Amino acid sequence: MIGDLFDTIEEPEVNIVKLSDGTTILHKYAYRDSADLMQELSKLLKISPFRNMVTAGGHIINVAMTNCGNLGWVSDRQGYRYSPIDPLTGTHWPKMPLAYKNLAILAAQQSGFKDFAPTVCLINKYLPGSKLSLHQDKNESTFNAPIVSVSLGILASFLLGGQSRSDKVSRIALTHGDVMVWGGPDRLRYHGVAPIKDGYHPQTGECRINLTFRQT
Ligand code: SIN
Ligand code: FE2
Repeated sequence: MIGDLFDTIEEPEVNIVKLSDGTTILHKYAYRDSADLMQELSKLLKISPFRNMVTAGGHIINVAMTNCGNLGWVSDRQGYRYSPIDPLTGTHWPKMPLAYKNLAILAAQQSGFKDFAPTVCLINKYLPGSKLSLHQDKNESTFNAPIVSVSLGILASFLLGGQSRSDKVSRIALTHGDVMVWGGPDRLRYHGVAPIKDGYHPQTGECRINLTFRQT
């Protein structure tokens, strides 16, 4: 009985798996900080709330987004770009919380990227049914820095492709607190998220939150 009691409060162990030269998955690396990350998120959302952006073609992106940091990723009828100003509020994006920056820097270090200095954190909110098509992150001014991606909340099936769109795609189950890092030779790997299934997580409710840290 006592065993059961302690099982429920035990933290899952961090497990770092190198998938290739430039790609690492850090299972549960953000688990310990997740309540803090979510608390910071609620403060950020008061300044720059989630919104559904449109693409140049007029298609509404079904993943809701916001940003923190010096710059934010935006999409509208003019296309994708980084902007220091949140177009919704007309003012700067909220500052990147120290807890966010430190976590991203440490996860990059653990994955072999020493000098990561994230300037942008794109925050995605996926409801059941939301997905992100296979793409490369290539709006950044440099590809020398890695991408650090933190998953919170309900399960996602992450699609990890190769350097070209036609390369084989593997599916990686990402759960609350998992961190993926890709950079160096893998910086331009195709990736995406399969349609999210229904679920519930005590910290996020019925959604998945993803924090993507980039340097530009
Ligand atoms: C992204 O590619 O911008 C986000 C990936 C994710 O949500 O895991
Ligand atoms: Fe991406």
